[in-house]
Amino acid sequence: MTSEAIPPRLHDRLERPFDRGLRAFDRLKERLGLRGRKAPYDDLSYEFLGGEQERLRKRHYDKSLRLLWKAETHASWSSFRDASALERTLSESAERGLSAQERVERERIGGAEFKALLERSYTPREKQALVNVLSMIGHGEAYAWLVSAELLNEVQSTGGRAALTMQVFEEAKHFVVLRELIQAFECPVPRLSAWEYLLLERAFKSKGLEKFFAMNVLVEGFALSLFGALGELPGLEILRLFHLDESRHAALPQSYLREFPLTPWQRWSPARRLRRLSLLLPALPILVQVEQDLAVLGIDSLEFGGSLARKVIQTSERVGFHMAPGPARLRALLNGLFNGYAALSRPGHERRDFVAAETSRGEALAAEAELYGPAAA
Ligand SMILES: [Fe+2]
Ligand SMILES: [Fe+2]
Repeated sequence: MTSEAIPPRLHDRLERPFDRGLRAFDRLKERLGLRGRKAPYDDLSYEFLGGEQERLRKRHYDKSLRLLWKAETHASWSSFRDASALERTLSESAERGLSAQERVERERIGGAEFKALLERSYTPREKQALVNVLSMIGHGEAYAWLVSAELLNEVQSTGGRAALTMQVFEEAKHFVVLRELIQAFECPVPRLSAWEYLLLERAFKSKGLEKFFAMNVLVEGFALSLFGALGELPGLEILRLFHLDESRHAALPQSYLREFPLTPWQRWSPARRLRRLSLLLPALPILVQVEQDLAVLGIDSLEFGGSLARKVIQTSERVGFHMAPGPARLRALLNGLFNGYAALSRPGHERRDFVAAETSRGEALAAEAELYGPAAA
């Protein structure tokens, strides 16, 4: 290294004024309402617009990586070969430490054995019911992947983008892994019903941060509740891992909007409150659509709907995605509709509070307490 001053190179003398002109031109275009710089990125402070937001990064990006699961280790029957050499060694040495009996229970099973396990555990009707219910979520995962990829470009800050990037990654994993799980049942996979099509398309078409309401609160709340109700069934233990991921996704609007709150107009505008309500409504015929399949699996569709509605209304109110006609009236309206439907279709039905029901089971309840409990406020 030399201590002599290095004269500016010709390159630098030319680049500096060119850079100043380029940026000034983009700023001028922005002021005129034209498209200036596209990237919401500030290379001078080495940060995305919106700042560092370390808390968001820790709560979502770091936590996602900490809880990252691989299909190969948790679904040895699948075609996935995504475990690292270290993970493979660890799971093999854990298996060596088990007793003979435990080893039989924990045996890594291949595709054929997994299909045999499903055959043994379920009647053909139960298998078809599971495929009908799980494929709703499977199609939903495709949309969650699409919507989160778009939301990635709607959120501000380095932490916010890191959080959304993990969601995109996890939705990709959910789609491909759930698809293989559903295919193992070897039953016909239904298309989207008209109601599901309407709900998911409208969620995808939602503008800006409204996607958080349509996807993370509503659609993922639905998926979360289903994973919470089904994760205890034989062969479906992997759904508990999906449940943990989804509860993180459902919590993301709360974390993000705490740092970047919605404006009062975004919260309360009559048009937005009505649109949110109109997104919730297609979920009602979906409950009728899956009623028989859920009944086969021992779940009351109206209790499931009530449990879901309570959670969705609670989260929406908490983060400022207010819905017409307000939480108390909405709960009363939904209870009225559920009871009206039950009075028509269930002989001897007695009026009850469906919105107070809880259909999540086992470990899922503890995971949801963090999201829906008073501590989440
Ligand atoms: Fe998902
Ligand atoms: Fe998700």
